[in-house]
Amino acid sequence: MKLGRLNHIGVATPSIADSIAHYRDTLGATAISDPFDMAEQGVKVCFVDTPGENGTHGTQIELIEPLGPNSPIAKFIQQNPAGAQHHVCYEVEDIEDARKWFEELGKRILGPTRIGAHGTPIFFLHPKDMMGQLTEIMETPKGDSHWSN
Ligand code: CO
Repeated sequence: MKLGRLNHIGVATPSIADSIAHYRDTLGATAISDPFDMAEQGVKVCFVDTPGENGTHGTQIELIEPLGPNSPIAKFIQQNPAGAQHHVCYEVEDIEDARKWFEELGKRILGPTRIGAHGTPIFFLHPKDMMGQLTEIMETPKGDSHWSN
């Protein structure tokens, strides 16, 4: 296991539209994706890019809004009505090797490895086993896709 780059910070919000306006108008973000629904995960998602080196994009903010009252993050929003930081996501070279590594350490993995919002395999680690941080592990995107930078 070797820690890769910080791919994104997940931020739960009661309103993606309000959050987009905040990142654009208060923080001066210029690269914000169109929001899209991830119905299976019960969330609406959008990405705010921070600049990286040489014109690439750097770490992103992943804005997450619950899709309805049964969303897995609905309770989190109830507890944090203004929105709050929800998770951090680190890249790894090989998702299966990483999963095995954390399993052998006895870390609780939340559900199966699945395809995340970037179209690459991800899994989540229980915050109580990760110094209080809900932690997403994501395989580094391959090839020259927009998200690979
Ligand atoms: Co995420």
